[in-house]
Amino acid sequence: MALIKKFRIEDYKSTESIIELKNISVFFNKRQILNNLNLKINKQEILGILGPNGVGKSTIFNLITGLKDPNYGKIIINGIESNEFPINERFTKFNLGLVPQYGGLIHDLSLIDNLKLVAEIHIKEKGLREIKINKLISQFEFEALLNIKAKHLSGGQKKKLVIAMSLVNDPKILLLDEPFAALDILTIKMLQEIILNLKSTEEITIVVCDHQARDLLNCVDRAIILSNGKVIASGSPKEVISDTAAKNQYFGDEFNIN
Ligand SMILES: Nc1ncnc2c1ncn2[C@@H]1O[C@H](COP(=O)(O)OP(=O)(O)O)[C@@H](O)[C@H]1O
Ligand SMILES: [Mg+2]
Repeated sequence: MALIKKFRIEDYKSTESIIELKNISVFFNKRQILNNLNLKINKQEILGILGPNGVGKSTIFNLITGLKDPNYGKIIINGIESNEFPINERFTKFNLGLVPQYGGLIHDLSLIDNLKLVAEIHIKEKGLREIKINKLISQFEFEALLNIKAKHLSGGQKKKLVIAMSLVNDPKILLLDEPFAALDILTIKMLQEIILNLKSTEEITIVVCDHQARDLLNCVDRAIILSNGKVIASGSPKEVISDTAAKNQYFGDEFNIN
């Protein structure tokens, strides 16, 4: 597993965007959540989306997957305007993977049966299916947990399982919604290593959101800060921490990563 550096400031080679949100506005009833938001996500970067609870982070994921349509604006994935593709087509057409904040697995099935279930949906050929499942079992070190029901796994083990399930169809874009919430420090570190490891071994773009900065900034190439429906800062972890608007509206004066 890759070691986590305090700040990963890496020159991500590609600045070609894989997802573009253009002039997006979203309302719930009459309440405006996103206000003419523009966001480019680069191919093969790990992008962190930070912002307080209720700012619209999950809404951005819902826009990308098609769970929510924007009131205004366009969502472009792989150069294709994706608005017209419903959720079931988007996941396969654009090779999306989603790790929702809650749930994502079947509690009464064992760990191995959860993996098999997803694999049966995505991989038709039995041999290939078994190869994929075995690869994930060894990658995530699930060997001792295979027959434990999901409901009896620890919080961290559950999160690892949902991440593994999201990787069954080899996503090119992986969305992680607050993956570190309610987990202990060592488990968070383990998940950060999984995220960094994925990026170094697969051709994948990872978008991870959180309302708490510290855990997220340790494992992203770039972060954006959302406030009042807009992106108010974007840059490397170091850059966003010292950004004046981000300090005023999100981090506060005291925030420090050390
Ligand atoms: N289906 C919905 N109906 C009404 N309001 C919603 C709905 N989904 C989200 N919201 C509101 O939109 C805002 C953004 O929600 P969300 O994207 O879940 O925030 P975050 O993930 O940043 O915590 C919140 O104020 C939330 O209450
Ligand atoms: Mg959310």
